[in-house]
Amino acid sequence: MKKMINIALPKGRLGEKAYAMFEAAGYECPSIKEESRKLIFENAEKGVRYFWVKPSDVVIYVERGAADIGIAGKDIILEYSPDIYELLDLEMGKCRMAVAAKKDFVDHRDKTLRVATKFPNIAKSYYNKQSREIDIIKLNGSIELAPILGLSDVIVDIVETGKTLYENDLEPKADIVDISARLVSNKVSHKFKNEEINEISARLEKILLAKKA
Ligand code: PRP
Repeated sequence: MKKMINIALPKGRLGEKAYAMFEAAGYECPSIKEESRKLIFENAEKGVRYFWVKPSDVVIYVERGAADIGIAGKDIILEYSPDIYELLDLEMGKCRMAVAAKKDFVDHRDKTLRVATKFPNIAKSYYNKQSREIDIIKLNGSIELAPILGLSDVIVDIVETGKTLYENDLEPKADIVDISARLVSNKVSHKFKNEEINEISARLEKILLAKKA
């Protein structure tokens, strides 16, 4: 008997793209596409149950085993360092983590740098490596406002097209790390549902390889 696999998908465009890959891999669940406020969708025959969760919560569901596998951004994985396996780079949701500031910003290395970000751990680790003293200002969104209003000197944030920076007269000053969506797994599930999880991962990998060919 096939074991049911619980899959946490990030709500939003990335999650929909990720679901389309699962569908193409043979793990469809048609009810997920119906207009509704439901959060759980199951296809017993295919052995899959999907949940829509807040993107930054995917790793929490997976780490604690409420989901066996999930789709999480590398940014979230780096920020929270969850105790999970990263199985596959899905090569979607590509962007980068970068330092940005006002165009005329001049860095005085002898002064503590005020850094506004949603990703305090990524920012701390980046500046620690440079032995740079920083003051982290943790925000939850619209990070670009911080240097404009003088709340911070720089920001550490996601840059995708660069449009948000450009339209707010900011510019990237340094790249920190490339980001993309990853297939992640709970460690215990990976052991006890190994066959099913490996099969899902292998089928998704096959789709990625076909795309490249
Ligand atoms: C993210 C990020 C930037 C923007 C970058 O914000 O924080 O603000 O996207 O995209 P771009 O380079 O294509 O302009 P998100 O939409 O997640 O909203 P947030 O302000 O709540 O962080």
